[in-house]
Amino acid sequence: MAYKVLVTGANGQLGSTIKALSSQFEDAIQFVFTDKTNLDITNTDAIDAVFRNGHFNYCVNCAAFTNVDLAETETEKATAINAIAVKDLAKTCKKYNVKLIHISTDYVFDGAKTSAYTETDLASPINTYGQTKLLGENHIKQILNDYFIIRTSWLYSKFNQNFVKTVYQKLLNGEQLKIIDSQQGTPTSCWDLAEFIIFLVLNEVEAFGTYHFSAEGQTTWYDLGLHISKHIPKASNIIPIKTFESKAKRPRNSVLNTEKVRMLMKKNLPTWQNSVDKVILDLSREL
Ligand SMILES: NC(=O)c1ccc[n+]([C@@H]2O[C@H](COP(=O)([O-])OP(=O)(O)OC[C@H]3O[C@@H](n4cnc5c(N)ncnc54)[C@H](OP(=O)(O)O)[C@@H]3O)[C@@H](O)[C@H]2O)c1
Repeated sequence: MAYKVLVTGANGQLGSTIKALSSQFEDAIQFVFTDKTNLDITNTDAIDAVFRNGHFNYCVNCAAFTNVDLAETETEKATAINAIAVKDLAKTCKKYNVKLIHISTDYVFDGAKTSAYTETDLASPINTYGQTKLLGENHIKQILNDYFIIRTSWLYSKFNQNFVKTVYQKLLNGEQLKIIDSQQGTPTSCWDLAEFIIFLVLNEVEAFGTYHFSAEGQTTWYDLGLHISKHIPKASNIIPIKTFESKAKRPRNSVLNTEKVRMLMKKNLPTWQNSVDKVILDLSREL
């Protein structure tokens, strides 16, 4: 039997990556990719119409308001997309018996912990984006039993704009960069996360709940920048800085403990360095 999977927000970087990976699984999974133009997740009637005729087994919600700084001023919009629409999606999943795979964030944590965050650690966001994402998570938990909430961190891919791609391009252009070295986290390749999402579907995993997914290891934005610079002969300088002007506060530490995922998949996850190298190789072929 082929699984039928609805993907929302499919023009974002995670959605685009799932799309790129989907051809490898076309015998097993029939994907239906939607973006804001044909399924705005804040439109309750539109959600219902897509589900009513879709006969989906899973919905992967990649749609989100992801601009962390803008969320501080566009709070209503961020809440509508990250919390209220997620509540509607969860209700619709319940109505049509669809399993929800929802993506959440390391920014639900305040960063005060000095080791990696587990799924049972208290979420206490310090910015509006994190607050709206946590509201979304809580709605899902109240409405559904058959859900996966996957918290991930520092996503990047060859698609759209993200830190890895931006830094790589700026270094290629010979720009000198100042990058913050006071936040700890783990860069996560959308490719690795997309493979985990497909793993959940293909294995019909029934251990529902919250999972932390990232690459292995941890670093700072500055050290990530240095790692990227190793791919560029005669790369320009990167200067470490302690703070930068921004509207939203960021957690000092948002490293996620991935043991629950590793136990489920019965394997280790790739190191962040390996996964970054793969995306840079891809970018270097395309640029
Ligand atoms: N990026 C990160 O570093 C990071 C880290 C941790 C967790 N996450 C989470 O991972 C998930 C995927 O992130 P991403 O990096 O792939 O984000 P992204 O590239 O910003 O993609 C999100 C997509 O959702 C779309 N969207 C916005 N409002 C929508 C609506 N009302 N209806 C339908 N689609 C809508 C966006 O369209 P427009 O761009 O046109 O608005 C965009 O295409 C999100 O849940 C995010 O919170 C991301």
